[in-house]
Amino acid sequence: MAVSHRRSTGWYPVARAAEVGTTPVPVGAGGRAYVVVRLRPGAEVTAFPARCPHRLVPLAAGSVVDGRLQCGYHGWRFDAEGRCVGIPSLGDAGTPPPRADLSVPWAVEERHGWVWLAPERTAAPAPPRPSADTVPEPVPAAPAPAGPVFGNLDPSLDHAWHPVALSRELRPGGWLQVRLLGRTWTLRRTADGVEGDPPAFGVRERFGIVWLAPAEPIDVPLDLPEATDRHYVPGWLPPLRSPGPAGPMADNFLDVAHFAHVHGATFGAEDRPEVPVYDVVPEPGGFRSTHEQWCENPTDPEVARGGRPLRQRRRAGYVYRAPFSFRVSLEYLDSGATTTILFLLQPEDADSTRIYTCLFLSAGHGQPLPLPAAVAEEVAFHRRVLEEDLRLMGVIASEGLPLDVREELHVPADRLGVALRRALCDFATARRARTAS
Ligand code: FES
Ligand SMILES: [Fe+2]
Repeated sequence: MAVSHRRSTGWYPVARAAEVGTTPVPVGAGGRAYVVVRLRPGAEVTAFPARCPHRLVPLAAGSVVDGRLQCGYHGWRFDAEGRCVGIPSLGDAGTPPPRADLSVPWAVEERHGWVWLAPERTAAPAPPRPSADTVPEPVPAAPAPAGPVFGNLDPSLDHAWHPVALSRELRPGGWLQVRLLGRTWTLRRTADGVEGDPPAFGVRERFGIVWLAPAEPIDVPLDLPEATDRHYVPGWLPPLRSPGPAGPMADNFLDVAHFAHVHGATFGAEDRPEVPVYDVVPEPGGFRSTHEQWCENPTDPEVARGGRPLRQRRRAGYVYRAPFSFRVSLEYLDSGATTTILFLLQPEDADSTRIYTCLFLSAGHGQPLPLPAAVAEEVAFHRRVLEEDLRLMGVIASEGLPLDVREELHVPADRLGVALRRALCDFATARRARTAS
């Protein structure tokens, strides 16, 4: 994992010993970011680098489980020496690759009421006695990816259609100011449609959304068969906002290995974190992928009646179009019901992304359409799911999605995420090629 290459010899006081328990504490030593934690109540203090090698998520958001530090996103576990001893998506028989190990500091000592770190081998055998004015150094920012990241202000994003409002937010004769790619547009609904000011390449409406393309678009629009299929009933979630760029949010939406760890309170099957091998099929402008997942299905009415188990299998069919349009069809194999989730991201500013989510619900062929109360229940449930993801986005605190796949450590469960990084790379490259020609 990338860390500061500044030499940091010597002992650094990083925290009062009494303040370090079994919750990871972010600290700094010699300009490097770490977390310190006790892997059991009353045990000696252990130190780890600040970020998980998998998707660079801060380990300060992790927790101690069975004497190991467990990352909060996908549950990778690290022992006191920094060895990665468990990757749940690999299943019980899976072996973590050596690159998953963390490089821990040379030494950690608890002396004179302080926790001391020596990031590198040091000549002094023990920490010095602290003085009255000893203070820990400020916690540095955790190391960012060394290579390029795809953020919300990437120039290629000018060349795509972006969702900028729900159609119903723009009343006849009304106007609305929206943020996109760090700029402000005023939308006006006129007798002829919707106009944008300053002028854009185009403004249009599709799927109940107002879309704006700042410059000639090169993206391939997402199709949505459910929007015109009479077997489906739509239900919009209120638009929400993520305090970060769209790339990591998109990555999260396509991530199939975090359900057990992030969504245990809603649908994640906590005891079935393994992800079977699946394929990703490239398509113009994006890709698709289908595989089966274990989940909990508390909104299935037959579960409350005892007619079906809470734990169910579902077939998830993902379709992605660059840069930030997706749908996933969740087909519940026991009931035949299907929920398709349309998920669209508006890259507003470097640190702000607006999220549009619409559900299309079908109770299955031969079944009556879902009633309004059932739609409302499903919308409320998916809002809780989305809020679980947004809490995670708040702690990831990244500036964008690393485009060099060597920056992170991908495992087989991450094929969709790798495909996303490649698709965004291709998107940015296609735009540069178009501009150069
Ligand atoms: S387990 Fe840490 S980011 Fe995935
Ligand atoms: Fe999620």
